[in-house]
Amino acid sequence: MAFIKYALPVLAAAQAVFAADCGDGDTITISSQSDLDSYNTCETLDGDVEIASSVSGAVTINGVQRIKGALTCTGGANITSFSAPTLETIDDAFHLDGLTSLTSLDAPELTSVGEIDFTAIPILQSLGFSVTSASSVSIVNTGLTSLSGISLTAVGSFIITDNTQLETVDVNSLKNATNLINFAGNYDQLEISLPNLASGTNLTIRNVSTVSIPSLTKLEGQLGFWGNSFSSLSAPNLTETGDLVLEDNSRLSNLSLPVLETVNGGFLITRNDELNTISFPKLATVTGAIDFSGGFDSASLPSLQNVRGGFNMQSTGNFSCETFDSWKDNTIHGTYKCEAETSDPTTSDGSSGSSTTTSGSDSSTTDDAGVLTAANLPVMGAAAIFGVLAQFAL
Ligand SMILES: *[C@@H]1O[C@H](CO)[C@@H](O)[C@H](O)[C@H]1NC(C)=O
Ligand SMILES: *[C@@H]1O[C@H](CO)[C@@H](O)[C@H](O)[C@H]1NC(C)=O
Ligand SMILES: *[C@@H]1O[C@H](CO)[C@@H](O)[C@H](O)[C@H]1NC(C)=O
Ligand SMILES: *[C@@H]1O[C@H](CO)[C@@H](O)[C@H](O)[C@H]1NC(C)=O
Ligand SMILES: *[C@@H]1O[C@H](CO)[C@@H](O)[C@H](O)[C@H]1NC(C)=O
Ligand SMILES: *[C@@H]1O[C@H](CO)[C@@H](O)[C@H](O)[C@H]1NC(C)=O
Ligand SMILES: *[C@@H]1O[C@H](CO)[C@@H](O)[C@H](O)[C@H]1NC(C)=O
Repeated sequence: MAFIKYALPVLAAAQAVFAADCGDGDTITISSQSDLDSYNTCETLDGDVEIASSVSGAVTINGVQRIKGALTCTGGANITSFSAPTLETIDDAFHLDGLTSLTSLDAPELTSVGEIDFTAIPILQSLGFSVTSASSVSIVNTGLTSLSGISLTAVGSFIITDNTQLETVDVNSLKNATNLINFAGNYDQLEISLPNLASGTNLTIRNVSTVSIPSLTKLEGQLGFWGNSFSSLSAPNLTETGDLVLEDNSRLSNLSLPVLETVNGGFLITRNDELNTISFPKLATVTGAIDFSGGFDSASLPSLQNVRGGFNMQSTGNFSCETFDSWKDNTIHGTYKCEAETSDPTTSDGSSGSSTTTSGSDSSTTDDAGVLTAANLPVMGAAAIFGVLAQFAL
């Protein structure tokens, strides 16, 4: 690396020689289209390829089939199109950040990428590739209207946030994910379909209008739904998950988890104002706390055998605490509270359980002990605190 740095300014002609070597593992910096053209006899480029932010207009990588490293451009605000007609493989990340003029991304042969990592590409509307292998995907603040171009059967993390034009996501092929799948802040009518996703680690969904997870059977980590506009949520095959959170889904009226047996963590339902009926017919074990608040008139947990944390159930509605009262010394191991027809239902940490009641502990302040309440935490944090509370209750 050091040698190239010193040698290049001295021997401008040496560039061609290095180019003919097609890289030697060091970073190849591209400052112009002609720099790229000097590599067009290379089938493989050995090293990371960095496109300088000063490059402008159309960028084309000709001839190259594989980049044995990452392909990166950060801040190339004047690049309008990017094409790589022969490129098949990028071993490491394909990282584009701040390409604010990019309207076209065309790499028809590209199928295998180490990671897809796109940020701040606000006017790019579609992906001109068909990637079938990538260990992780992060697409943040782009103009994409769909994710067609990405069809993976397995992935590590899958982060899709702040894409305000994104109307549909149909990741038909995805069956398993070993890290976080996260959707948030995309187009508010976003429809998500994960028809074949059977297992995963964490799945968090915010601000979507429909979600379809018919095959989901088991999650190792958290399943969370915040701020969505769907009226119906169904996970017909889900038997087991980590923390389970349903918060601020203002239109949710039909929640169906008919075969859910185990929650390995806390189970939080709050501020879903239209949710009138809570019923988990098969739920037997919750290793954290149960914390349900809202306006429901019926709560049915007929199979519940073991709650290792606490139990808090509060509603403006007229549900019956009778069954739960009888459990407080055996089934439920933590602190117990059940209140029907309360004007001010709250979660176990004192946050308002309904977005229509106003009194109670102010959801945007700390409580007397200076402890953060759920609502003033960043959205991810609420569940983390909830997990902590569950542990205290053990
Ligand atoms: C893009 O072009 C404008 C106008 O020519 C220039 O001022 C700006 O510095 C360029 N941006 C980059 C990142 O090169
Ligand atoms: C999902 O992927 C993980 C890690 O590769 C693996 O251990 C697990 O068995 C997979 N699950 C299924 C159902 O394929
Ligand atoms: C749901 O689970 C059943 C029983 O395990 C299985 O036969 C069915 O194919 C699953 N449905 C989906 C959509 O994966
Ligand atoms: C994944 O879920 C676990 C268990 O619910 C949680 O402790 C962890 O913070 C979550 N991680 C992420 C990245 O969401
Ligand atoms: C998105 O969801 C969050 C909760 O996670 C909520 O605070 C926010 O208001 C929602 N945004 C929109 C545009 O609905
Ligand atoms: C609630 O959703 C379930 C599963 O999708 C469905 O079978 C049921 O008919 C729905 N109930 C109502 C009242 O819409
Ligand atoms: C609440 O439910 C009980 C039992 O079903 C009933 O007797 C009572 O009248 C109800 N109260 C109101 C205010 O609806």
